[in-house]
Amino acid sequence: MSRPTHMLKHEHRIIEQALRALDGVCTRLELNEEVPIEALVQALDFVQIYADRFHHEKEEMYLFPALQQSGMLVEGGPLGFLKHEHQVERQLLIDLGAAVTDYRNGDAAAKHRIIDHARIYSRHLSSHMRREDSILFMLAEEILDEPAKAAINYAFAKAEYGLGEKSVEHYEDLAAELEKTWAV
Ligand SMILES: [Fe+2]
Ligand SMILES: [Fe+2]
Repeated sequence: MSRPTHMLKHEHRIIEQALRALDGVCTRLELNEEVPIEALVQALDFVQIYADRFHHEKEEMYLFPALQQSGMLVEGGPLGFLKHEHQVERQLLIDLGAAVTDYRNGDAAAKHRIIDHARIYSRHLSSHMRREDSILFMLAEEILDEPAKAAINYAFAKAEYGLGEKSVEHYEDLAAELEKTWAV
């Protein structure tokens, strides 16, 4: 029996490693400790590409439409709510990216915007993933029939080739490395 939500849950655990690193980076910035800009750039790259472009897109392009076809509501229902949360997280990443660029260009005050946006993003995404783990994925395994699950698994496997020049393995290694170096 194929269970596409197992893959998504696995990705949640990888994303949590990077969020613990991002929180650790924020703590160090708050304590006025030195954080190399490269660590910020790497953490930003991870959340922009792996969390947003890879993981959220897989949910939006394949899982949510399959659930919608099975009768789950989008407008006014759980899928609409979760999609809105993805949009909020995308906007936070745009703001965080702008703050990192300003900091890199010598704007010392941008440090506070980095801390604010990263903290809000981390909290928001953590509770979003908990909601998906505890409610949506459980429902999905019950609602979707085997052909629908097999189609999602196939689409997920293909999505691994759409990451650009870097592989899924690269990002999973990066999350582990960032956590080891920066989590507190
Ligand atoms: Fe999601
Ligand atoms: Fe998710």
